[in-house]
Amino acid sequence: MKKKIIIAIDGFSSTGKSTIAKQLAKQLGYIYVDTGAMYRAVTLYAIQKNYISTSFFDKEKLINDLDKINLTFVYNQEQEASEIFLNGKNVEKLIRGMEVSKLVSKVATLSEVRKKLVLAQRAVAKNKGIVMDGRDIGTVVFPDAELKLFMNASPDKRAKRRYKELIDKGYEVNYQEVLQNVKERDRIDSTRKDSPLVKASDAIELDNSDMGLQEQFERIMSLVNDKL
Ligand code: DC
Repeated sequence: MKKKIIIAIDGFSSTGKSTIAKQLAKQLGYIYVDTGAMYRAVTLYAIQKNYISTSFFDKEKLINDLDKINLTFVYNQEQEASEIFLNGKNVEKLIRGMEVSKLVSKVATLSEVRKKLVLAQRAVAKNKGIVMDGRDIGTVVFPDAELKLFMNASPDKRAKRRYKELIDKGYEVNYQEVLQNVKERDRIDSTRKDSPLVKASDAIELDNSDMGLQEQFERIMSLVNDKL
């Protein structure tokens, strides 16, 4: 049997981490974990409870409720992807809209939230065979991951991709709002105190501003094969 490894994919928002991670997981028969979805689901919970909005954030209330937040992933055969459930309810669509996108970076600054989610992320990977994407996977969650990738692309390219993705999925958004959000999340994610987004010293950086999906996939698969 082939050895199983942990592949950590970090990088700025909308760099295509999840697309590549899903493709890799499918090819290798690995489990894919979208950690951004976990931070988004906690943010949705806070919004639904009126603990957060663009003008206020009652951090204490959210922290007190953390034990009441149960997150699970369920595989959707038709979509060929896992979907996230918040306290038993499928929230996959709700967490992708602009409301959550605008607030998630604030929620992700809370150490208590990070501690809970990091524990859950490590628990999934007991048997390896994992592709996990996020911001702190190679630095904090799995500092010993066998392969670490750090994805990047220009803010404009990323915002264009994200805009198209949202429009294709039927969300009503405007491009400037999406670009602003991408830049603002970059800023908050890279400057927060706990687990800021930084490239791990042993991560391989990939700028995909001008790279097609197939080229990226082939390049990464060759890196994976070197490790197996
Ligand atoms: O990957 P994404 O864009 O769906 O992530 C949403 C937000 O969650 C991102 O702006 C920062 C936060 N996040 C994080 O802090 N740590 C992770 N491992 C994943 C996401």
